Amino acid sequence: MQGVPQEIPREEALSAWCSGRRSWCGAALLVFVTFSVAAETTAEIERLRERGAYVLRASGCVACHTDEDNGGQFLAGGRAIETKFGTFYSPNITFDREQGIGAWKAEDFFRALRHGIAPDGTSYSPVFPYTSYTRMRREDMFALWVYLASVAKSARKNTAHELAWYVRPRIVNRVWKLLFFESGVFRPEPGRSEVWNRGAYLVKAMAHCGECHTPRTRFGALDETLAYAGAAKGSSGEGAPNITPDAETGIGRWSRSELVDYLSEGMLPDGDFAGGAMAEIIDSGLAYLKPRDLDAIAEFIMALPPIRHDADGPEG
Ligand code: HEC
Ligand code: HEC
Repeated sequence: MQGVPQEIPREEALSAWCSGRRSWCGAALLVFVTFSVAAETTAEIERLRERGAYVLRASGCVACHTDEDNGGQFLAGGRAIETKFGTFYSPNITFDREQGIGAWKAEDFFRALRHGIAPDGTSYSPVFPYTSYTRMRREDMFALWVYLASVAKSARKNTAHELAWYVRPRIVNRVWKLLFFESGVFRPEPGRSEVWNRGAYLVKAMAHCGECHTPRTRFGALDETLAYAGAAKGSSGEGAPNITPDAETGIGRWSRSELVDYLSEGMLPDGDFAGGAMAEIIDSGLAYLKPRDLDAIAEFIMALPPIRHDADGPEG
């Protein structure tokens, strides 16, 4: 199998077997995994927990779900996320039964990540990037779940979002999803190298680079014709530069090791440092990644088709 992280071969193999089969397959797989976890030792749980902690870092969950600026507890939410539709506040995702997700079943969690659906059946706003996490393999979601179960609980109450009236009803999210969202797990591209596929999985299913670096249409959907070509600064949101290998407007003049250094330490080729949202993504996430994963991300990014697009330029 290509692009498959080596840490979890058995579950991976099963999930590959499941792909393309019916939906009960995933549930059966979960039972199997849960069973085998019980049957094997606590070492197995520890391995899943470690993998989950890693997936959490790689996926940038910490940056949004921890209110770092106000000394918030780890994953207890409350962090303000400004968008042109208003301010969202990330929810508490610790296992507190009242205020967090401690009363959820694992299936609720998988449904939130894969389909953007809450336990009560309503749909989440795509500010929660399930639009990317939908591609995550089931066993990685399961590892995340196992890890979250071990995080210190917080009884912090969720803060209500402050949104424009027209996006307040949750039904809006459902309509948005019908128009712009397709759920489905990542499929490796057969013609590509294992490293490229590994990078593609990390970028598309976890690190969600495109959620910031791809511009959006006025309806908030990603404009894939300009994939990774940079998003202009909006009225309230922060922009993000072009990271395709275009020499003029992108990072075409960067070497692969410069890109890896940037992703792990935030240092730009000219010695300056990353700021804003990127600095957060690096400090609370990418900096934790293994060199081979950072290298795989660089492989994928450097192989993107170069797009000439100056996000903040006159035609941006
Ligand atoms: C860009 C910010 C952002 C990132 C990154 C992010 N989330 Fe969230 N998350 C949110 C917001 C905002 C909501 C609430 C969405 C809504 O109310 O429609 C949310 C909702 C959730 C919920 C539902 C909680 C509830 O009480 O209903 C879960 C579970 C969750 N996120 C887990 C995660 C996990 C796990 C990750 C990483 C894999 C992650 N999130 C990454 C912003 C983020
Ligand atoms: C939460 C939004 C967000 C996410 C997710 C994100 N970025 Fe960024 N990125 C930014 C912003 C904002 C900047 C500009 C940073 C600055 O002003 O210093 C940036 C800068 C960069 C730069 C520097 C480009 C230049 O010309 O200076 C690179 C390279 C980069 N990001 C790559 C990535 C990759 C690869 C990923 C996924 C692994 C990623 N980013 C995920 C927001 C994001």
